[in-house]
Formats: sequence, C-alpha cells, structure tokens
Amino acid sequence: MSGQKVRKAVFPVAGLGTRFLPATKAMPKEMLTLVDKPLIQYAVEEARAAGIEEFIFVTSKGKDPLEDHFDMHSDLYRTLEARGKTAELEALKKTEIPSGKLFFTRQREPLGLGHAVWCARSALGNEPFAVLLPDVVVLSKTPCLEQMVDAYKTVGGNMLAVEDVPREDTNKYGILDVASENGKLAVVKGLVEKPKPEAAPSTLSIIGRYILQPEILQLLDNNVQKNARGAGGEIQLTDALVGLLGKQPFHGFRFEGKTYDCGDKVGFIEANVAFALSRPDLQADVLKKLKKLV
Ligand code: G1P
Repeated sequence: MSGQKVRKAVFPVAGLGTRFLPATKAMPKEMLTLVDKPLIQYAVEEARAAGIEEFIFVTSKGKDPLEDHFDMHSDLYRTLEARGKTAELEALKKTEIPSGKLFFTRQREPLGLGHAVWCARSALGNEPFAVLLPDVVVLSKTPCLEQMVDAYKTVGGNMLAVEDVPREDTNKYGILDVASENGKLAVVKGLVEKPKPEAAPSTLSIIGRYILQPEILQLLDNNVQKNARGAGGEIQLTDALVGLLGKQPFHGFRFEGKTYDCGDKVGFIEANVAFALSRPDLQADVLKKLKKLV
C-alpha cells in the first residue's frame, strides 16, 4: 500500500514550559534559542524538508510570538537591505510561511496531546497528516520526517519515529509492542503510554514524530466526548492510536539520527552543544572553548 501525500502538519505548542521558568514567563518555550534559531523553527524546517505545505499550530494563551516569528517583517527587511546585510536577510526569509499556509487554533485547556491534535481536526480534513513535537529535536543528515515520508511512500498507513530507551525510562514515553521487524520498519501490534519499566512490552519509544491517517480524528473525538483520560489523567494520542492497530498499516520507524529533549534543562544544554558542534561555522571555536571549560 502506498501512502497518499502528507501535506499538512500539526505542531502542538500549547504547553506552559514550567521547567524553564522564569525564561518562559513572557516567552513561549518554543521560542527558546537552540544556537541561533528558536526551537519551533527547527520543527517547521524539518516539516518543510519533508514536503509539508500547511502548518497548523495548536496554541494557548501567551503564544503570539510564534505567530509573529513566521510572519513577514517588511521594516526589518528594508533596513537589512539598505545596510547590505544579505546573509541576515536570507536567514530571515527562511522564517516565513506564506499567507494561507499557517493556521492557529487554541487548546483552551491543557488536556493532553490527544486533545491537542483533536483541536486541529477542522484544519486537517480527510487526508494524512504529520505531527511534530518541537521539544524534541533530531540531529541527522536527512531530517527525521523526510526519512519517514520516504518510507511511508512504500508502506502507507500510520508511522511513528521510534528509538530504544533504557528500560528504567519507559515511563516517560509511549512504548511499542512489536509484532515483527524488517530493517528500519517495525510492525506494531500494541502501544502503551508511559508504562512502568516492569510492564513495558519493549524499550522502543515514540520520539514525537508521527504520520497519521485521518481516521485517528474520529477515535480522538470519541475519547474527547467520553472524556477518556489515560496516563497522567490526560487524553492521550497513544490511546487513540491503539484503535487503528490491525485496521491500517502501522509501523514504528527507526530513523537515522540523534534526539535531544529540549523540554528538559540538561537536554537543552546538551542540544546546544551538539548542534553548535555540528555547524562548520562554529565547530572549531566552540570546541576550543569547551576544552578549556572541562
Ligand atoms: C508525548 C507522547 C509520548 C511520546 C513523547 C515523546 O509525551 O505522549 O508517547 O513518547 O511525547 O516526547 P509527553 O512528553 O508530552 O508527556
């Protein structure tokens, strides 16, 4: 089964960012800077590289800077042009999303990831879509979602980017129960959100990149109507995904690359170092400073 083109992506960006207070008191956590770009821009660029044309942000109060960031800033363009700052101008143009391609919808209450994706239902319609959690950034040669879209072209259905985690950490992630594996693809027969290490069916965890078929929206709607709460008292995306197992192709995808959890202070610092070291323009200087420090 080959997959219908994935044109739309949902970015759940309603979270409060309490772990980064006071930095996130008046600024969304998705605007935290990883080297020289806000986190959200990495997710948007990853989506764009995978062929995504429409970007749907699920926001909450105080997230207006996200809207401004992807807007056109004509005054700034004129100033940079007048000063001959072409490199800065080019960098700025990459932040733009054309009119009619960026949509915002609010998650009015923090009821969980499943609820957040459900909030985007009217903008999604009846076609496959991607979900990207911007807290997780992936350092890789080929952007993670692009790798997934390539694999999806052959197998279709639903696909979750996965990686192995230490067993003691399974209670932080959605975990797969795998029927069989073929190269990078794992056929999924079960999914559990944040199982205790002793109850986890495997150590293969969902990293926060999804390709989903539109049927998930009905399952999410059922759970929202029933107020079906799962792990952490939240309406979970993982719980709704269970309803698609056995009905549509469903794969875990072992991508190439390394994930960094920028929702966590240490992970965020580690990501800054790793991304700086991956940049030819910064690598040598950053390495020199790091060697002095440690
Ligand atoms: C969410 C998902 C979980 C996934 C994780 C990846 O959990 O529910 O399945 O493994 O993202 O970061 P959260 O971290 O929002 O609690």
